[in-house]
Formats: sequence, structure tokens, C-alpha cells
Amino acid sequence: MKNIKKFIPIAYPDLTGNENIYLNRVLKSSWISSQGEYLIKFEQKFAEFIGCRYAVTTSNGTAALHLALTALGIGKGDEVIVPDLTFIASVNAITYCGARPVLCDVNRQSWQLDPKEIIKRINSRTKAIMAVHLYGIPANLDQIMDIANKYNLQVIEDAAEAHGALVKIKSLWKKVGSVGHVGCFSFYGNKIITTGEGGMVTTDAKQLAMRMRVLRDHGQKPGRRYYHPLIGFNYRLTNLQAAIGLAQLEKIHFFLKFKSRLASLYNRYLENTPGIIIPKTDYEAKPVCWLYSVIIDDPYPLTRDEVMEKLKNKGIETRPFFFPVNLLPPYKSSQKFPNSNYLFQHGLNLPSGYNLTPGEITFICQQIRDEIKN
Ligand SMILES: Cc1ncc(COP(=O)(O)O)c(C=O)c1O
Repeated sequence: MKNIKKFIPIAYPDLTGNENIYLNRVLKSSWISSQGEYLIKFEQKFAEFIGCRYAVTTSNGTAALHLALTALGIGKGDEVIVPDLTFIASVNAITYCGARPVLCDVNRQSWQLDPKEIIKRINSRTKAIMAVHLYGIPANLDQIMDIANKYNLQVIEDAAEAHGALVKIKSLWKKVGSVGHVGCFSFYGNKIITTGEGGMVTTDAKQLAMRMRVLRDHGQKPGRRYYHPLIGFNYRLTNLQAAIGLAQLEKIHFFLKFKSRLASLYNRYLENTPGIIIPKTDYEAKPVCWLYSVIIDDPYPLTRDEVMEKLKNKGIETRPFFFPVNLLPPYKSSQKFPNSNYLFQHGLNLPSGYNLTPGEITFICQQIRDEIKN
């Protein structure tokens, strides 16, 4: 086996809890579609975990964002401020509503929305701010909520990558997804917990939760079959997926601990490496490590792309940061986004799967640190 190169993936799910048992129960019950006990339990337990009153499952995280924006009444003629550095789903969900995404630069140290830049973009058409918690790092919600309250704006948290991250709001620690008017999560296969595909919207507002349930189910009025007062969608999760979700949620504290140890190990090896920059916030936040991520810049001897190539040759999978939205054809902009463009060129995601061993982290970091000695 000596010549077989080991492959270290960027992400890897852990499905070794009650997933099998719950899935088999669903199969036996025949409730495999979008009704059933696991959907109810998953929503209840997720709301409890986040610390909010309602949680609404959706077919994926993008659907969660679109559903939330639609239920909030965001539509044609409205503007929503969104970070330029994010996964494209955050921006597309705004476009799906007929609203205009207004791209905003991020802070170079925290990689998150820059509150000073948000204020510059507010006008009479602005209806909402989409606060993305990129790579598991909470956005500066304390300041964003102040801005939103001052200008009467809705706040949609895109917490697709940040299940369990905490942020301090006026001296109180809160989980992301429980601070804004709505929080949106993804359960894609590489996320902190997964249902294969899946999503959730969290909120404290009863009417909003009810509206989202109706819109998720083709706008059908509860209790009146085939009567559709609203144009809705089929954004339902299945009981099969919820069964996996519940089993995953039962282990989330273990997962978060695993990720936190993983991040500490990476930090220990990399934080004093010249030219390797670790993100930091100048506000109080406790990030979760979705994908362990760093910036690679001078005086480090290789570029980000060269590091990716080197690690690839050693069987280590990595990812570059998301393409800044202002550089993508549908959203091309002549405005300047110096920080998101910089982070895109220098940002690197390293393996962070649940199968990653301390020895593999050491091996990955050695490959990176070796260049300094050479
Ligand atoms: C920041 C962000 N928003 C939204 C999404 C969309 O979630 P999904 O892939 O479940 O539709 C993702 C998923 O990767 C994401 O990273």
C-alpha cells in the first residue's frame, strides 16, 4: 500500500450516531415524504439549540434564504445590503425576490460585513441587511442591529456556515440565527451538521413563522386543501432528511468541540508562520470552525495558488475563498471592493472534516511551514 497516496478531503461528514436507526424507523413507518415525527422533532430541537421560538425546515439553505426574504415582504424596488464576499446563494436569493442586492465590502481582518460600509449604502429603497457569518465567524451583529434599528431595516442572518457560533449583543452572548429577524441555515453535506441537502429558518416572530410554513407549501391555506391565497414554493424537507438531521443535532456539541480542537491545533502550528494570517474580530465573538481558513501573503514565499498546488500534490484537498460577487458576470460592478478582492486572492480553506486526525493536521501544517525553512 506504500505507493497509494492518502487523500485528505476538505470536508467529511460524521454519520455514526443515530442516523441509521432513525432512518430505518422512517422507512418502516412509510412516512418518507414531507410530513412526519422527525420533521416536528428536528424543528423543535433546532429552535431550542439556537435559542429562538420557531424553526422552519426547508429543502436547502438557498430555499431558506428565499423563503425568509419573501415572508419578510422583500420584493421589486427593494434593496438588500449583502457582503460582496459570500457564497453566491446569499445574493441570488435576493435576486429571486425581484429585489436588488447591494454589494458591500467586508472588513479585512474579520472577513465580515463592514458596518461603516453598510451605512454608506443605505437609502430610501433599502429594506434589509443580509448579515452572512462567513466561514463560521459571526458578523458584527451588535453594530448591524443598531444600524438596522436606527434605519428601520430587517436583518436576515445567513448562518449557513455558522451553526453554534456566538456573538455578544449588549453584554449578552447569543447564538447566531437568534439575533436578526430571521436566521437561515444550510445542512449541505459539508456543513457543521448535515441532512444531505437541507435548510432551516429560525425566528422569534410567530406570524412570520406561520407565513413561511404556508409559503413553503405552495402558499396553501392551512386547513383548506388546494386553496392557495399566496404564490408559494415547494421548499419542504423530507422526514427522511429530518431523521438524519435530528441524529446530527444530538451530536452537535461533540462536533463543535471536535472543530474547536481542530482549529486550535491548526492555530498552534500556523499562527506564528510569517505571511500566514488568521482572522480576528475587534468585537466579541466566538466563531465555529466550519472550514479552517487563513490568508497567505508576503513574506510567505508562495502564493495562495502555489500552496494549493503543492498541497494537491500531497493528496491534500483545499479550496480558494469564494469569488467576490462584484467580479461575477451577473453582478459585475464598477465599484471598488478592495478587501473582498484581496481576501479572494489570498484566502485558503484547509481540510476540516470529521475524519481529520491530529497527525494529518501536523502533516498539512508541515507542508506549509517547510517553505519557510527552504
Ligand atoms: C454563506 C452561504 N449561504 C447560503 C448557502 C446555501 O445553502 P445550500 O447549499 O444548502 O443551498 C451556503 C451553502 O453552501 C453558504 O455557504
